Amino acid sequence: MKKVTVSTILKKKKAKEKITMVTAYDYPMAVLADQAGIDLILVGDSVGMTVLGYDTTVQVTMEDMIHHTKAVASGGKTPLIVADLPFLSYHTLEDGLRNAGRLLQEGGAQAVKLEGGKEVANTVEQIVAAGIPVMGHLGFTPQSVHKFGGFYFQGKSSQGAVELVEGARALEAAGAFAVVLELVPWEVAEKVTEILTIPTIGIGSGPACDGQVQVFHDLFGLAGNFKPRHAKEYAKVGEAILDGLRTYVREVKEGIFPTEENTRRMDETELVAFKRLLEK
Ligand code: KIV
Repeated sequence: MKKVTVSTILKKKKAKEKITMVTAYDYPMAVLADQAGIDLILVGDSVGMTVLGYDTTVQVTMEDMIHHTKAVASGGKTPLIVADLPFLSYHTLEDGLRNAGRLLQEGGAQAVKLEGGKEVANTVEQIVAAGIPVMGHLGFTPQSVHKFGGFYFQGKSSQGAVELVEGARALEAAGAFAVVLELVPWEVAEKVTEILTIPTIGIGSGPACDGQVQVFHDLFGLAGNFKPRHAKEYAKVGEAILDGLRTYVREVKEGIFPTEENTRRMDETELVAFKRLLEK
């Protein structure tokens, strides 16, 4: 398979071909995403909630992101690897540039994503000028969860929708190659998609977006009882793992596992010699 690049993604928008993106946080997830033909893998700072057990993405650090990006980059060879710049890692131009660089140099990503509109446009411009592709993120931006007061749709009012459009325009003008629209009403996402020449990647924002992104754990029943409205469960992997673990526990307790098949015996002559040595 040919490596997906920024230009592949832009061509897909022009050709009206849907773009696929999923999060991944480690090597096996990235290998599976690659085998499934996913265009973009996002090493999302959602790793904080899905894998590290944090309440929000706010606690995620650059060290967390580099650690997980490295693992994903080893497994996902064909998709374009986009890594999230975590909370407060890009709020000065200098930090933004340095940390974006770290995600590529130390993590092995090929692009970075950051949250915000007009207020981050200068940062986007500077990172892009350094040769690093940037994906924007508008609507519900999880790093601002405490400002929003919860996981709520954004751009529901006419004024809010206009601000969102302006933010999207600012990101495009700054050189972003795509924009995630998270929890944005269908009609607003449709309008932004129509206005921009760069692709929109939706999550909870309806089918008019140029592509879709989902959190891996939501797709496969790995997020416990948390079932967000924007997600669809494609397989009950969590339940399958739980069943398997329960069977494993029972079989070990009952002496059913392991058997001859799971180990090997010593060569007969070596065994005799071994016993003799022990007797001495
Ligand atoms: O971190 C993440 O998983 C994200 C997606 C929700 C787009 O930013």
